[in-house]
Amino acid sequence: MPMADKDDKTSGDSERSAFAVLSGQYVGIFEEHLAGLSESVPDNVPQRLMESMLYSLRAGGKRLRPVLCLAAAERCGVDPGKALPMAMAVEFMHTASLIHDDLPCMDNDDYRRGHPSNHKVYGECLSLLAGDALMVWAFGFALSRLPSFGIPLDRAVRAVNILSEAAGPAGMCGGQALDTDAGSQSSERDFVYRIAGAKTASLIRAAVVSGAMLGDIPDTTLQCYYDYGTHLGLAFQIVDDILDVTAAREELGKTPRKDEAQNKRTFVSAYGLEEAKRLAMEESEEAERSIEQLFPEGDLLIDFARSLANRGS
Ligand code: IPE
Ligand code: IPE
Ligand code: MG
Ligand code: MG
Ligand code: MG
Repeated sequence: MPMADKDDKTSGDSERSAFAVLSGQYVGIFEEHLAGLSESVPDNVPQRLMESMLYSLRAGGKRLRPVLCLAAAERCGVDPGKALPMAMAVEFMHTASLIHDDLPCMDNDDYRRGHPSNHKVYGECLSLLAGDALMVWAFGFALSRLPSFGIPLDRAVRAVNILSEAAGPAGMCGGQALDTDAGSQSSERDFVYRIAGAKTASLIRAAVVSGAMLGDIPDTTLQCYYDYGTHLGLAFQIVDDILDVTAAREELGKTPRKDEAQNKRTFVSAYGLEEAKRLAMEESEEAERSIEQLFPEGDLLIDFARSLANRGS
């Protein structure tokens, strides 16, 4: 999904480039940490399994979730360098969800992050295992490293638990079940909120909240980040559904117009394109409002929420 500047008369320059600026502050240290990952791989990992995991991790992507995790951590008093294992775990989980999402049994997508999708290169079986391995490794990766990065163990455990809940049956996996399983459908129009809330918003919220809770913050502040992540995540999936209809393959790095072809329940199919844009705006504004009180003088996280809905226009 593109995050680059667009010629959009409805948003100002600062809004349009909010993600670019935010990303510019954190993506460098994240990519550097990721580049060193091969050195921390245990010797006995089968080589092609590791290649398959690294293929998708290094294929690109916006790194939205790790950037949010590091940004939230810093705003809660944690040096972003200390939060890197958490940001990495979140990106492991997200990348794994994409590997699985592209499998023939799910969305059957051949193209991801501007490259052939994992199963097109490594085959379905290895691709399934690469996703499994990344998901499971995410937890141990964060838990075994955060204390040596200076994060107290009790905070590390709480943050990793947040990721577990977000990815599990009530989170991303549950949402993917609602998205793909014919027997789990509902005729209610707002069922798309349930799907998106679970498959997408739960992980985006976990990125924000797991970063925030590495710091020593009151529950009221954590609640603000929780609400921000929920609404940002919903806005993000609404915009993803919109871009599936409106954007080009090169821009997306994935195959457009898949949702209608596969008869997916999306915000566009449920509400129509124009109403979906309005709903994206509504969620973005809710996200802004959720953290406004934390930043009376403004913040890039607020600007980013505002700019998100404009990307779908
Ligand atoms: C795609 O997420 C899957 C959704 C939840 C819509 P992204 O659009 O963040 O994918 P990458 O990480 O940039 O490839
Ligand atoms: C996927 O939603 C959400 C995940 C949990 C991976 P989509 O199926 O809409 O994501 P894209 O459009 O393939 O990236
Ligand atoms: Mg899908
Ligand atoms: Mg898909
Ligand atoms: Mg999509």
